[in-house]
Amino acid sequence: MRDYKFTNYWFEEGARGVWDKLIPKVMPRTILEVGSFEGASACYLIDKLTGSHDLELFCVDTWDGGIEHQLADFDMASVEARFRHNVGEAAKHAEHKVRIDIRKGQSDIQLARLLSEGKAGYFDFVYIDGSHQAPDVLCDAVLGFKLLKKGGVMVFDDYTWSEHAPADTDILRCPKIAVDAFVNIHFKKLQLLKAPLFQLYVKKLAD
Ligand SMILES: C[S@@+](CC[C@H](N)C(=O)[O-])C[C@H]1O[C@@H](n2cnc3c(N)ncnc32)[C@H](O)[C@@H]1O
Repeated sequence: MRDYKFTNYWFEEGARGVWDKLIPKVMPRTILEVGSFEGASACYLIDKLTGSHDLELFCVDTWDGGIEHQLADFDMASVEARFRHNVGEAAKHAEHKVRIDIRKGQSDIQLARLLSEGKAGYFDFVYIDGSHQAPDVLCDAVLGFKLLKKGGVMVFDDYTWSEHAPADTDILRCPKIAVDAFVNIHFKKLQLLKAPLFQLYVKKLAD
């Protein structure tokens, strides 16, 4: 029994149903996650995969929250503390070795740093769930794709998400326009995987 401390069901509601079928097919050993929050997706991956093999999991987050979190007044210091507790709890129960590499900071800097460390093409699975602002998502997508191995899978969360204030909704304050631009520009190098559209799934075919 894991003593997890989660305060939301984002992962359960938006991803788990598809990931339960997808992850056993991909069986990633090297994972990059942009946007970890309290570690729900990270803990899912540790729980799901470390029964069969060792795992390296890189988690990138500012733990400052996105615009949507600042508006909702999250206490991000407590969120980060719960993340550290939760992934520690998952790792404690892992049957195989798990290395969790926490990269605290802005994703553009952290992903560029991983590239400069020679990690181009290193990751089997890249999960983009950080900033939901289009310019940031585009940057995460382009850099994340360079870090993804040929044959690897990249997932974009909240593909169809937008803010709940119709009068204020700004097309650049949601991921879709950036994910669409990324997919269109890289169409020769990727394949879209069939799944419900709340998340978008792509397989890398070429560098
Ligand atoms: C939706 S949450 C991630 C949820 C998590 N994957 C889960 O399963 O619970 C988004 C996270 O992205 C982080 N974030 C927002 N903008 C960022 C940026 N530019 N660089 C790095 N992290 C960022 C926030 O601090 C927040 O923790």
